[in-house]
Amino acid sequence: MLRDWLDADLPHLPGLFDAPDIAANTDIPSPFDADAFLVRIRRRRAQGIVDLAVTRDGGEPLGLVALHVAIGVLGYAIGPAHRGRGMASRALRLMTSFCHEELGLTRLRLSIVQGNLPSQRVAESAGYVRSDDEVVERTNGLGQPKLLETWHRIAPGTSGWQRPDTTRVIGAAGGGRVWDDASVDYRHDPTRRDLRDGKGDLHTVHLG
Ligand SMILES: CC(C)(COP(=O)(O)OP(=O)(O)OC[C@H]1O[C@@H](n2cnc3c(N)ncnc32)[C@H](O)[C@@H]1OP(=O)(O)O)[C@@H](O)C(=O)NCCC(=O)NCCS
Repeated sequence: MLRDWLDADLPHLPGLFDAPDIAANTDIPSPFDADAFLVRIRRRRAQGIVDLAVTRDGGEPLGLVALHVAIGVLGYAIGPAHRGRGMASRALRLMTSFCHEELGLTRLRLSIVQGNLPSQRVAESAGYVRSDDEVVERTNGLGQPKLLETWHRIAPGTSGWQRPDTTRVIGAAGGGRVWDDASVDYRHDPTRRDLRDGKGDLHTVHLG
């Protein structure tokens, strides 16, 4: 299950994200600061970037999956103690289905540091392939420049270029326009959504 982060997750955060390969392959800053991490999540939420905790049953967080709603870019990181058990692959498959089927995002992208083989395997397992997009340079969590490749997944049966139907995630409490050609005013639906992840398990994605 994917869920929102809670203040109660605070003690788990250093064990999950204070890892050299997380700082090297994502923009999560190092040295890691748990309070700053929760502040960062709230700031990103206001910008339309949803960071969800990856859990087995809604309990202890094992990692994160992130979605930049307006541009359909996803990211993920799993705590070192919880790796190699398919958590990243399952979380990415779940979010991918949610984005294609619920949000109508027909082209989803991942930015993967060149040579990050575990992340490439996760991408492949969720049906992503390396795109022709140019490699871009970005600063990682260690403040180092890194070259990022774009991997993408086009929703089956689509060209990948339709405008997403983000009106489906406007909640009664949200209001406002969520998509425009140039600007995005994204509000999250306070209701819960159920989703089948393709393996028969029913999950809940809470975009609150
Ligand atoms: C990449 C990462 C999220 C993978 O998490 P995970 O939960 O261990 O991944 P999974 O268990 O779902 O493994 C997915 C695939 O990657 C493979 N894999 C995992 N670790 C690997 C490694 N160190 N080297 C090679 N392949 C690896 C698995 O064997 C599996 O392949 P399979 O489906 O063919 O068996 C995790 O290593 C991580 O958080 N890394 C640091 C942050 C990062 O790189 N994030 C991605 C940013 S784009």
